[in-house]
Order: sequence, then C-alpha cells, then structure tokens
Amino acid sequence: MKQTHDNLRPIRWENDQLYLLDQRKLPFSREELVLHHAHEVAAAIRDMVVRGAPAIGIAAAYGAVLAVRQAYTTQGQHWREHIETDFAQLSASRPTAVNLNWALARMREALATIPPNTDPVPTVLQLADQIHHRDITDNYAMGEFGADILGEGACILTHCNTGSLATGGYGTALGVIRTAYRRGQVSVIFADETRPWLQGSRLTAWELQQDGIPVTLLPDSAAGSLMQQKKINWVIVGADRITANGDVANKIGTYSLAVLAKYHGVRFMVVAPSSTIDWQRDSGADIPIEQRAAEEVTTLAGQTIAPAGIGAWNPVFDVTPVNLIDAIVTERGAVLEPCRGGLRQLFPHQN
Ligand code: MRU
Repeated sequence: MKQTHDNLRPIRWENDQLYLLDQRKLPFSREELVLHHAHEVAAAIRDMVVRGAPAIGIAAAYGAVLAVRQAYTTQGQHWREHIETDFAQLSASRPTAVNLNWALARMREALATIPPNTDPVPTVLQLADQIHHRDITDNYAMGEFGADILGEGACILTHCNTGSLATGGYGTALGVIRTAYRRGQVSVIFADETRPWLQGSRLTAWELQQDGIPVTLLPDSAAGSLMQQKKINWVIVGADRITANGDVANKIGTYSLAVLAKYHGVRFMVVAPSSTIDWQRDSGADIPIEQRAAEEVTTLAGQTIAPAGIGAWNPVFDVTPVNLIDAIVTERGAVLEPCRGGLRQLFPHQN
C-alpha cells in the first residue's frame, strides 16, 4: 500500500515504453524522456537524467529489457549473441553505485533460465518490474526501522538526494525522514545544497516541498557551524556502495559530515537496501570512485564561474569509514555500531 508523503516516481514502464523523469531539469521543469534503446539508457545514467544508486539499478534493469527486446526482434532465436554490447555499455555507465551491476547480474541470471525457442522478453520485463517494486517496499521497511531508532524531537541534516528521485520511490535516508515526519518525530530538517550538482537544493528541497514537508537549505560549508550551534542531533544519508566491513561510499562531502558529527556528538545514520552492499569488497579502499568533468565545478547553470584554464578535482563520492557510523539501516533491520561487525549477522548467507 502506498505511504503518505509519497508522490513522485522517477522511472515508469508503461505501454511497453521506458519513461525517465529528466532530473537535470528539476526543479524548473518537469519533463519525461521516452527511451527506446539500451544505449540511450546508458547515456541517461551517465549524463544524470536518472541518478541515485537504487534508481540507476532499476533503470539499468529496464535498459536490459530494451537490449533483449531489440535483439529478439531483430535476431530471433540468436538474440543471446547480440546483447553483450548493450550490457557492457549499461555496466560501464557509472562506476561507484554497485546497484547498477547488481541489477544487471540479476537480469543475466534470469536470462540463463530461458529455454531455447522462447520469447525472453516477458521473463526479463517481469524481473525488472519486480526489482522496481521491491525497491519501493524495501524503502517503506527501512523507513520504519530507521524511524524506530531516531527517537522524538529529531533535528536532522541530510546530504545529496536520497528520496523518491534516487530510488524506485519513497527513498532511503529520505524515506526514514518521511516516515519519522509522518509519525511526528521530526522537529527540523536541514538539507545541504550538495555542490556541484546541487542534488540537495534542486531535488531534495523540491521533493520535500511536493510532499508538504518543511526543509531548510544550507551551503555545504555551513554544516560545521550547524553542528557547533547544536541545531541537529542526527545526520542521515544514503549510500552508493557499502563494503563487507561496513565502510560507506556516498556523495562527496559525506565523509566530512561524519568527521564533524563525531567531533560534535551528533549521531550518524546510513540507510541503504541490500542491493547496495558489495560483499566481494572487504573495505572502502577497494571502491572505485567516479571522477567527473572539471566543468561541473568551473561552471554553474551553464555560466563559467572560474578563470579560464583552471583545472578542478571533481571526485563525486567519498568513503566514510565504518567507525564513524552509528547505524546502518537495511530492509532486514538496523545495525547499531556496525564497526562491531553486525552487518553480516543480518545477511548470514552472504560469503
Ligand atoms: O551522483 P548521484 O546523484 O547519483 O549521487 C547520489 C548519492 O550519492 C546518493 O546519496 C546515493 O545514491 C544514495 S540514493 C538512495
């Protein structure tokens, strides 16, 4: 059943077509793109039409459906030999969020079960829909688990966009905030603007406004003062990849917030579904960190804001060590003090 404060969907599959809400245009215009080919989905992920770890996993799953459909339509029973280029493009579209390759691996598992002389499209479409809808129900579950540990009178700072726009719907960190708000546990919400893509000001502020939830924006560099002045007691963020030991890659600036939070006695919560956990990597040092173009730093809304010829360092994620994290919330439950190793106990069948 749909929750309250849950009005947005960034990805739709309708009438055999994939629609993506163009997040580069928000909050100024609300436009959907219709995508017909897997390579268009790969480009949409790379170019930030769709972003946020769970959302790019879902988009990649539907991209795989488009790849399989095209191969089956044009090559008939030889479709298997004609999907690899599309799968490779989807897989390489962004490197840090593990949800992308998690979704593609699940699509491959389903493809392996399809008998010869069978139309593969219904099977992969059903799985993509399942990945999409499961993400939303997992977010509802995480919302409850996270709100349970927040307590009353929560004063929260969040970073980047982890809401409906970053997922199938409802959100991870923002899902916890939505649930806690509905339950009356929230006193105030602050959102970092999140340079350079401004996911906080363009997306999080807009999303919360659509749902009638009050939020106050701040420049990223004001977070230290916010904590020093005791205006918050929780930082709540999402994740792009969590390694087996509990280290967390998330939007650049997350690590700085975690260090500041530790110094100021502010609690730090990470909210992510199990599709974000990479059990194959032992620690955050092993996570590939995406670097994007210098122009994302030297320009703002199309205007140049730095001297011509200046270089810029633009890593778009950083790694927060597990010892700075008070709670990791997944759809299976919450792990308090995850540096003690409790993440594995929630997922005993992972090796
Ligand atoms: O570069 P983006 O906008 O894809 O980065 C998104 C984030 O860092 C989010 O915090 C993360 O994906 C979790 S979203 C539920």
